[in-house]
Amino acid sequence: MHPLLKKDKEELSEILAHSLELAQAFLTTLTDRNVAITPHSNSNLNLPEEGLGAKEALQLFMKRYGRGLSASSGARYFGFVTGGATPAALAADWLTSTFDQNATGYGDSVAPLVELEALALLRELFDLPATFSGAFVTGATMSNFTGLALARQWVGKALGYDIAAEGLKKPIKIFAGTAHSSSYKALAMLGMGRNSLEAIPCLSGREAIDVKALTEKLKSQKSPSIVIANAGTVNTVDYDDIAAIAELKTRYPFWLHVDAAFGGFAALSDKTVHLVKGWNQADSITIDAHKWLNVPYDSAMIFTQHENLQVEVFQNAATYLGHPGSEPNFVHRTPENSRRFRALAAWMTLQAYGKAGYQEMVERACDLAKNIGERIKNSDHFTLLAPVSMNGVCFTLVPEATETNINRYLQHLKEDGRVFLTPTTIFGKPAIRISITNWQTTKADIELAWSAMQTAYQRSFS
Ligand SMILES: Cc1ncc(COP(=O)(O)O)c(C=O)c1O
Repeated sequence: MHPLLKKDKEELSEILAHSLELAQAFLTTLTDRNVAITPHSNSNLNLPEEGLGAKEALQLFMKRYGRGLSASSGARYFGFVTGGATPAALAADWLTSTFDQNATGYGDSVAPLVELEALALLRELFDLPATFSGAFVTGATMSNFTGLALARQWVGKALGYDIAAEGLKKPIKIFAGTAHSSSYKALAMLGMGRNSLEAIPCLSGREAIDVKALTEKLKSQKSPSIVIANAGTVNTVDYDDIAAIAELKTRYPFWLHVDAAFGGFAALSDKTVHLVKGWNQADSITIDAHKWLNVPYDSAMIFTQHENLQVEVFQNAATYLGHPGSEPNFVHRTPENSRRFRALAAWMTLQAYGKAGYQEMVERACDLAKNIGERIKNSDHFTLLAPVSMNGVCFTLVPEATETNINRYLQHLKEDGRVFLTPTTIFGKPAIRISITNWQTTKADIELAWSAMQTAYQRSFS
């Protein structure tokens, strides 16, 4: 063994204690850290001929890059749709690396069984029937990829051929109102092509699909198709009428995939559960874990009522990897072969906080989004562009909402450092979005964020 490896092995406890100190220092100063930063690149380091050992390497990293770490896991990172990590999820994630299990299956570890249990807990959390099997993947993009891969296989079978075995022989049509960009990416990766997704008109002033227009489109189809329904769009957190879309399955042949990356959490509250009505009739559902479940990156779930197709598409035939039909064997059900034991963080956080903990988290975020939405509505500086839905607020600047003004404003906001928001375009207008998804966000954070939003406005336009 190389002397440095030998030394680090002997000093492992010290190295871990040092990492704990660094982690604590980071977490205890999270609220004072700039929520987002603009990184400056250093000149590249060369690969050392002789290594430094773990402690020196940790110190070097913190010296070179520590100041460039943002508080993206903190309470006022309202950009994109970003959760943090609950204490239980964080602890579990550390242990995931410590245990370093390969969560594929085939009888060498309990990890796949924990994954199955975590998926069953999640089904309960979202009140999905046991007909849904599931699997963890790296994020909602891969979950959409997996769901659409199953959809592709289903369409092929309906046409009498096996796409997983023979490849795509003719184009497949996909319909959606406002598909998330990751679905286009998934279609590109799946060989169906970005252009195979046809946008169906939405209801006036909404991001939700016009079900009548979809019905007409489905009526005109000669082949089975795929419909992607939204449960929570990124800009206005709008929901398609999933129940009405699901009802169309009795008349037209299509696979229903629901992208509920974060919007699926509407199922947790009596106040919002109606938004996902009918999703239990979907063929596949995407739900992210590193968003509102607040586990560390990278984690999401795919749920499907067609486990047989999962095996047809993702089987990885090699004697040493076990039989595709064997249970549980995720190597034959997901895009990856070797897999991180990412289910542990989800399992731990669900055990730690239960249904009530998550319901409180979701309802608090929705209340806080409403609070900031009210302030925007009553402000001379901003105008709301859509009613506040769930945890999302979409607004723009007054009087002149040009892209240049928005970028200038967001740059000032970023330099202020108390809150981070991201730009978008909605209904053809440059806009700004707020997404409150972190478990720690409270009313006090909204006060701070609001104060920062006023200051940035003054700096930008006076
Ligand atoms: C509705 C929706 N789908 C898919 C994604 C992609 O998620 P990920 O970044 O986890 O791949 C997002 C991310 O914001 C989303 O909001």
